[in-house]
Amino acid sequence: MACVLAIETSCDETSVAVVNDRHCCSNVVASQIPIHRQYGGVVPEVASRSHVETINQAIAQALVEAQLDWGAIDGIAATCAPGLVGSLLVGLTAAKTLAIVHHKPLVGVHHLEGHIYATYLSEPKLEPPFLCLLVSGGHTSLIYIKDCGHYETLGETRDDAAGEAFDKVARLLKLSYPGGPVIDRLAQEGNPKAFPLPEGKVSRPNGSYHPYDSSFSGLKTAVLRLVQKLGQDGSELPVPDIAASFQDTVARALTKRAITCARNYGLNTIAVGGGVAANSGLRKQMQEAAASHNLRVLFPPLKYCTDNAAMIGCAAADHLNRGHTSSLTLGVQSRLPLTRVMELY
Ligand code: KG4
Ligand code: ZN
Repeated sequence: MACVLAIETSCDETSVAVVNDRHCCSNVVASQIPIHRQYGGVVPEVASRSHVETINQAIAQALVEAQLDWGAIDGIAATCAPGLVGSLLVGLTAAKTLAIVHHKPLVGVHHLEGHIYATYLSEPKLEPPFLCLLVSGGHTSLIYIKDCGHYETLGETRDDAAGEAFDKVARLLKLSYPGGPVIDRLAQEGNPKAFPLPEGKVSRPNGSYHPYDSSFSGLKTAVLRLVQKLGQDGSELPVPDIAASFQDTVARALTKRAITCARNYGLNTIAVGGGVAANSGLRKQMQEAAASHNLRVLFPPLKYCTDNAAMIGCAAADHLNRGHTSSLTLGVQSRLPLTRVMELY
C-alpha cells in the first residue's frame, strides 16, 4: 500500500490530493477557469502565476481534508509532462521541495497516465488489459492498457483534439470558455439530427479509412460554414440545434472508433477518461453501443474526468508500489509520448 501526496498543475487547475493506492482521501481542485474565461482560453503566463499563488494553500488543505500528517505519506508525486512548461514547473518544484524536506521519494507522473488511472478510483478492482478512450482538451487517443507504465497508442486525432473542437465550436457560436460544458448543456435543448455534419474520416494511402484515427478540423469548418449560411440574413442562430448536431457527430465518431478497436483487439472493457468523458452525449452513445456489443464501458465520476490530482496520485501509488521513483533532477516536458512513461523512473 502506498499513500501519496500528489500535485497537478499542467494546465489551468491547481490541484493537490492524498491518495492511498486506489482510494482518494482528499482532492482539492482550485480552478483558474474564471480567470482565463475573460481571454477566451488559457493564458500560460497567467496560469503559472496563479499556480504559484494557490499551491501552498492547496497542499495544506489536502492534508487537512485527508486527516493525515506527513508521517503517513510514503511519496510525493507531481505531473511533469505533457503540459504548459511554466505551470508544470510550479507543481514539480513544489513536489521536489516537499520530497527533500520530508525525506520522501519523488514520483513524476505523465498527465495522460493520470487520466487513465482516474477510472481505478471508482473501479479499484479493474485490471489490465483494457482499452482506454482518452478524450481531453489536448488529446484524443485510443490506448491499449497492458500494465502500469506500458501502453500502446492504437488511434489518435490527426488535427484537433475532441475537447479543442468543443472549445473552438463554442467560440464560433459566441459561447463562453471552456466550450465543452456549455455545448453539452445547450445540446440538451436541441435536435441532434437538425444538421447533418461530417464525422471526419482519416484516409489511408490504399483508399480505405483508418479505423481508429479521428479528425475534427473538417467538422469544425463545416460548423463555421453552417453558422455563416444560417446567419446570412441576420436571423438568430438556432444555437441549441447546432450544439446538439455537433455533439452528436463527435460522440458518434468517437464511439464507432472505440467499439471497433475494442472488438478487433479482443478487449471487453473500455475506460473513458479526460475532460470530454464528462460529455452526456458521449456517455449515452458509448453505453448504448457497448451494451449492444456485450462490452463493458466505464466512465469515471465527473470530478475525476477533468484535471485533478487524485488521478495523478493513483498512478503514482502504483508506480511507487513497484519501486518506480524519479530522480530529483527530473525536469518538465511540454510533450512526451505515453510510450515513454518509464523514462520518468
Ligand atoms: O482533461 P481536461 O480537464 O484537460 C486537459 O487535459 O486537456 O479537459 C478539458 C477539456 C476542455 O476542452 C473542455 O471543453 C472539455 O474537456 N470538456 C467537455 C465537457 N467538460 C469538459 N467537453 C464536452 N462535454 C463536457 N461536458
Ligand atoms: Zn487533462
